[in-house]
Amino acid sequence: MPVARILTGIQSSGRPHLGNLLGAILPAIALSRQGGHESLYFIADLHSLTSIKDAEERRANTRAVAAAWLACGFDAEANTLFVQSHVPEVTELAWYLNCFTPYPMLANAHSFKDKRERLADVNAGLFVYPVLMAADILLYDVNLVPVGKDQVQHLEIAADIARSVNHLYQQEVFVVPEARVDEAVMTIPGLDGQKMSKSYGNTLDVFAPEAELKKRVMSILSDSTPLEDPKNPDTDITARLFALVADPAAVAEMRQQYLAGGYGYGHAKKALLAALLERFGPARQAFDRYMADPAELDRILQRGADKARALAHKRLAVVRGVMGF
Ligand code: ADP
Ligand code: TRP
Repeated sequence: MPVARILTGIQSSGRPHLGNLLGAILPAIALSRQGGHESLYFIADLHSLTSIKDAEERRANTRAVAAAWLACGFDAEANTLFVQSHVPEVTELAWYLNCFTPYPMLANAHSFKDKRERLADVNAGLFVYPVLMAADILLYDVNLVPVGKDQVQHLEIAADIARSVNHLYQQEVFVVPEARVDEAVMTIPGLDGQKMSKSYGNTLDVFAPEAELKKRVMSILSDSTPLEDPKNPDTDITARLFALVADPAAVAEMRQQYLAGGYGYGHAKKALLAALLERFGPARQAFDRYMADPAELDRILQRGADKARALAHKRLAVVRGVMGF
């Protein structure tokens, strides 16, 4: 059976970084170009309220994430790009789904378990986070959800909820979604070598002004091997990041230079900055254009919300009907 609908979301809890681009946005765009299906990609601004409370920050991040999708080449005309809160029906569905979600399923979710030691910091929104995510998916009759490994459990929860509703009402109220984890997508290291993540403050903001990007690249952690000594390109963070963004010939050359010695981390960082600017040059320009034209961004997101909403109304009508509302 050909895949009909693909959906994925990225929270607007920060500006999109290199890890988001290489790990989520670019692969999802490549998938959307394969044809034979429709892609719905959205900015999960409601989810970001579990952590971010500042309105201006959320607005700015929401726009930046939308601009990043478009700047990286997502075709929002052939597909759908929208903001989660522009289809508020998703919160109605989330309520219905809450009433079909067993407590232990949520108590076992990694997203909650990781924070269980500090319960005072856990708001109810964070606890039911996977249910809102299930609503995101089930509202739009989605078949396939491309996500990182960390989201697989959330997809299992969404599929479980869909199956239990279908079972109870003895009909296909929801399409049962499937996760698509791209094993080829690796974890992008951050400036300190841990996973690049907003929560660790170790990100490279690919769309930042050049001077800022340069400062970040220059602050990548390196060891104190003297300039003249050979260095390990497989463990050094700069070399690892370079290998992810530069073309293969340049990567092979840098490896040789690392192994030969006489090549310093400062050289490598300059090469990494140049590679980032080359690889993402057109996207950086497009990003700035979208950020400078809020009316155009709003027009695209409004169109996306209209398309998503039409699907949402159809599914919600069925749900209200079977549940007696
Ligand atoms: P963050 O960890 O910065 O908060 P998110 O959890 O919002 O990022 O991730 C959004 C998407 O980007 C997810 O699909 C996630 O798998 C992907 N992603 C985030 N960080 C990385 C990384 N370091 N390497 C690969 N993919 C990543
Ligand atoms: N929880 C996802 C993340 O942090 C974002 C997200 C929200 C999502 N709703 C979704 C992803 C629905 C896929 C489908 O990465």
